[in-house]
Amino acid sequence: MCFLVSGCRGLGPPNQPNIGANQGLFVDTETIDSEEWDELMLNLEATIPVYDRINRFATLGQVKKWRELVRHKMPTEGCILEVGCGPGSFAEDVVGTDLVCLDPSALMLATAEPRVNACRKERGDSLVEFVEGKAEELPFEDNSFDGVCSLFSFRDWYDKRAGLSQVLRVLKPGAKVVIVDPAKMNKLHGFFGWMWMRIWVGAYARIVCRTSDHPWKWLTKTYVHFGTTKDYIRMLEEVGFVQVKGKVIFPGMATIWEAHKPELGKGCCSNC
Ligand SMILES: C[S@@+](CC[C@H](N)C(=O)[O-])C[C@H]1O[C@@H](n2cnc3c(N)ncnc32)[C@H](O)[C@@H]1O
Repeated sequence: MCFLVSGCRGLGPPNQPNIGANQGLFVDTETIDSEEWDELMLNLEATIPVYDRINRFATLGQVKKWRELVRHKMPTEGCILEVGCGPGSFAEDVVGTDLVCLDPSALMLATAEPRVNACRKERGDSLVEFVEGKAEELPFEDNSFDGVCSLFSFRDWYDKRAGLSQVLRVLKPGAKVVIVDPAKMNKLHGFFGWMWMRIWVGAYARIVCRTSDHPWKWLTKTYVHFGTTKDYIRMLEEVGFVQVKGKVIFPGMATIWEAHKPELGKGCCSNC
């Protein structure tokens, strides 16, 4: 199957991020400091009971289509890695290929595992390997995966550049990464996105969670500090990906990026 190096599977508190020189930077388009990230993780875990319901509402039902789009862009054979699988909302409908789901939250993995593997068993697909870990320190061997995807998780990575470098490392030469997250096109777009999340999503989350101090406030916070579509096209290129594309698929809510690891002998990675 796939190629675990030192990943731990199972429960336990999420590991602390080790972001060294970035300590104290708060949140920007590339990094989140460790205190903020810990707080973010607690808030993400608090969304689990209402995660799919609020996501459907927040995206006007579009999230299903975007997940489908990513599934179609992933290879139909070999082994795929989903980084930041959360409660398994994407993974449960991945059909056929072997799948590894990684998340730093033991609680997310414990929620995803029965849900996803019940669907896989029913379809006769291989069971998913669930791995506790972070994008920034992927516990897999070089050149392990035929495809990597990450949906609505990239903006939560505490060091996006380090995470992308790790993704490049674990992809096989020529293989593709697909990322979806709500980037902005520009400042004006960012302002409307902020209003949407604060007012529309915030009001619904208040009702569903029955408190004004609901964890979806963090959605607005990570959105505000997330960069533009172009910022991450540039970052993917700088990290060493080729054929990089980024496209807004729903203004304010979803951008999709696609990028390839260079083929053997054509790229700049140490394994080529
Ligand atoms: C909003 S959920 C997305 C879940 C799922 N991918 C989906 O399509 O709905 C974001 C997930 O990213 C995970 N995450 C946060 N920081 C991460 C990191 N540094 N590396 C990998 N995953 C991370 C969180 O634990 C959370 O489960």
